This record gives sequence, C-alpha cells and structure tokens, in this order.
Amino acid sequence: ATGNLVVIVGPMYSGKTSELISFIEIYTLGKKKIKVFKPLLDNRYNETSIVSHSNTSVKAIPINNSAEILPRLDGDEKAIFIDEIQFLDETLREVVVEMINSGKDVYCAGLDLSYKNNPFKVTSLLMSHADTVIKKKAVCHECGEYRGTMTYKTVENGGEIDVGGFEKYIAVCRDCYLELNKNK
Ligand code: ADP
Ligand code: TMP
Ligand code: MG
Ligand code: ZN
Repeated sequence: ATGNLVVIVGPMYSGKTSELISFIEIYTLGKKKIKVFKPLLDNRYNETSIVSHSNTSVKAIPINNSAEILPRLDGDEKAIFIDEIQFLDETLREVVVEMINSGKDVYCAGLDLSYKNNPFKVTSLLMSHADTVIKKKAVCHECGEYRGTMTYKTVENGGEIDVGGFEKYIAVCRDCYLELNKNK
C-alpha cells in the first residue's frame, strides 16, 4: 500500500515542530524505522537536531537540498519526517511523492507564509499533495487571542529567508498584522 502525506503548517511558534516530534514519538514507540531530515540552513540551535521553541528536540540528518533525501534511505523506513520545508527547493515535491508512492508515510512541517504574507511555494505544493493538512495557530503576541496565523518581523534587516527567533519575529493574528504594518 502507498503511504500517507501529512503537512503541518502555520506561523512561527504555532507548534509545528512540537507536533512533528509527537508523530515521531508514535512511530518510535511502535518500534518503526524512521528517518528525520532538516535543512542545514536552519542552524539556529543545533546542526543535527530539530528543536522546538519549548526546547524539545530529536536527532535529524542535515541536508542542503531535497536531492540528498532519497540516497540517505535504506529502503525499509516506515516513515520520513522533514522539518522547516520552506527552506528546501521545490524538487521536494517529486521526492515526497516518490516516497509516499513507495509505501512510506511522510510528515512535513514548515511555514505556509513569509512575514511579507507571501506563500512559500514548496509548502503550497506539498499541501496540494497532502492526505492531511494540519494548520496550527499561535497565541497572538499583540492581542493575546488564539488566532495567530501570521508572522510579523520586528527588525528591518534581512530578507524573506532569514533564520531567527524571538529577536526578529512574533506571531500575530491577521488584525494585528494589518495594524502593525499600517504603522510602517
Ligand atoms: P513552531 O515550529 O511552529 O515554531 P514549536 O513547536 O517550535 O513551534 O514551538 C511551540 C511552542 O512555542 C509552544 O509550545 C510554546 O511553548 C512556545 N510559544 C512561544 N510563543 C508562543 C505563542 N505566541 N503562541 C504559542 N506558543 C508559543
Ligand atoms: P519555526 O516556524 O520553526 O519557528 O521556524 C521558522 C524559521 O524560518 C525561523 O528560522 C525564521 C525563518 N523565517 C524566514 O526565514 N522567513 C520568514 O518570513 C519567517 C516568518 C521566518
Ligand atoms: Mg519549528
Ligand atoms: Zn492579535
């Protein structure tokens, strides 16, 4: 049988990495063989782990591009996990489709939107192929409501690809996002 594709999206701090780690735990508890990947670009905390904002972590294989995934597989993995997909190239789509067609479950997590409100194309492509899309929300940093679907950048420097955390980015609801950008 073919596998399932689950794509976890949402703004920063919405619990994407935590959710990915929860799924990893389910396979690990069931003694299923898995592999975990992350783009090397995201070297925030650690080059060989995925780390959540609440500091849970899991070992991961760092990759520079999606072509490095298939050669790293032994073939008998039951599931593949990939965090921070927004930093990978669009070929990830073909790689993921090949893996689900060959019977592996694939779990991907990443940003759907940049702080400029532009979709990350690779995330959009994977959402199209997904069996399940899990859209997470954060608590809005401005109004405190559990409606945070966007990320606001609090510093001027850097572009749409700019690794960082709370020193640069906050999660906000759409109303607060519009309000903050109005004052620019
Ligand atoms: P993501 O990968 O989506 O950035 P993480 O799983 O790394 O999310 O982090 C989620 C954790 O971040 C939460 O469990 C909580 O402890 C913390 N956190 C910090 N700020 C917020 C916020 N504004 N809304 C929700 N959780 C937050
Ligand atoms: P997170 O979703 O796990 O919190 O991580 C998101 C990463 O993406 C973090 O390193 C900051 C980075 N980022 C960008 O590069 N561009 C953006 O527009 C946003 C919102 C985040
Ligand atoms: Mg994360
Ligand atoms: Zn708000």
